[in-house]
Amino acid sequence: MERGVRNEELGMRVPLPLAGAPAAFGSALRAPTSALVDTFGRRHNNLRVSVTDRCNLRCTYCMPEDVTFRDKSELLTFEELAAVVRVAAKLGVNKVRLTGGEPLMRKELHKLVRMLVAVPGIEDIGLTTNGVLLAEHARELFAAGLRRLNVSLDTLDEGRFFALARRAGLPQVLEGLAEAKRAGFAPIKVNAVAVRGFIEHDAVPLARYCRDHGFELRFIEYMPIGAEPWERDKCVPPSELLATVARAVGALVPANGDPSNPALEFAYADGRGTVGVIASVSRPFCRSCNRLRLTADGKLRNCLFALNETDVKGLLRPAVREADLADALRATVWAKWEGHEINAASFVKPDRTMHTIGG
Ligand code: 5AD
Ligand code: SF4
Repeated sequence: MERGVRNEELGMRVPLPLAGAPAAFGSALRAPTSALVDTFGRRHNNLRVSVTDRCNLRCTYCMPEDVTFRDKSELLTFEELAAVVRVAAKLGVNKVRLTGGEPLMRKELHKLVRMLVAVPGIEDIGLTTNGVLLAEHARELFAAGLRRLNVSLDTLDEGRFFALARRAGLPQVLEGLAEAKRAGFAPIKVNAVAVRGFIEHDAVPLARYCRDHGFELRFIEYMPIGAEPWERDKCVPPSELLATVARAVGALVPANGDPSNPALEFAYADGRGTVGVIASVSRPFCRSCNRLRLTADGKLRNCLFALNETDVKGLLRPAVREADLADALRATVWAKWEGHEINAASFVKPDRTMHTIGG
């Protein structure tokens, strides 16, 4: 049988790229002229924008202790970031998430939020932060129009926080969460990377804390994207995490709504709160992936684990070349592979570590 998939955008069957080898840019098979669609028919409406590679923590699963950050002149300006979002929005992107490094290390981030809120077609803007600087910035971000917040928090224990983040900061994160709630953010999600040896102690306290404060807890499976050698044994199966929480905190019932949501979602049977698991390793959601990434130094990536990227800085300096940017966005999505293959022997860890990509 012919290898291929029906592509709804093109109304035709298109061949599959060889597993693990993205279709070469500019191949005979051309990207369609509208919408960000790949050869598997996946439409991309979700752009994750990293605004800096800097961070005030040094989480072991993300970056090395002796990390060297990029010179600030290498980072895209707010105007340049907004220009990419504007062109992406014309091609169907309606969701943007600001990430880092730690995005609040970028001065006056609320100004970028304001610029993005004004982009026609952008309906949903979120921020993923480690929360350390959140108390200072929550109100100005809310005033700028930001509503969705993901705060990374792996533990409520100061000792384990230090062991994971190599820096102190737990009281600031908790104050940041409290201030964000007072400012009116909703939803507030708490993302906890589940690392064996830590999460066994933290899953239940985190679940109780989130339920008590109205935060949506999501466990993130530990992925091979950081600086440390990754070991599969450090991944904790979703079933184990959910069983632990259900036993100690409250019975859980499945609550998956939006099929493009990568999380396995559960609600407490008494209706008070939710718990999710993002199981990128044990239950990859590549089939329904709608995400595209822009790094702080101006590279488009079609997958967290992509080995190729497209430089767009040259299309932004000295002046924005909108048509070329649109082509670059389309070509990058078109070249997307079927999935990340973490579980295959052929898996190759990308050179970039998480903080230079954006979670
Ligand atoms: N595996 C899973 N999640 C990770 N993050 C950073 N590194 C990893 C990893 N190796 C998460 C952070 C944060 C988001 C930006 O990415 O904890 O929630
Ligand atoms: Fe910083 Fe987030 Fe990486 Fe931790 S995971 S070092 S908070 S960018």
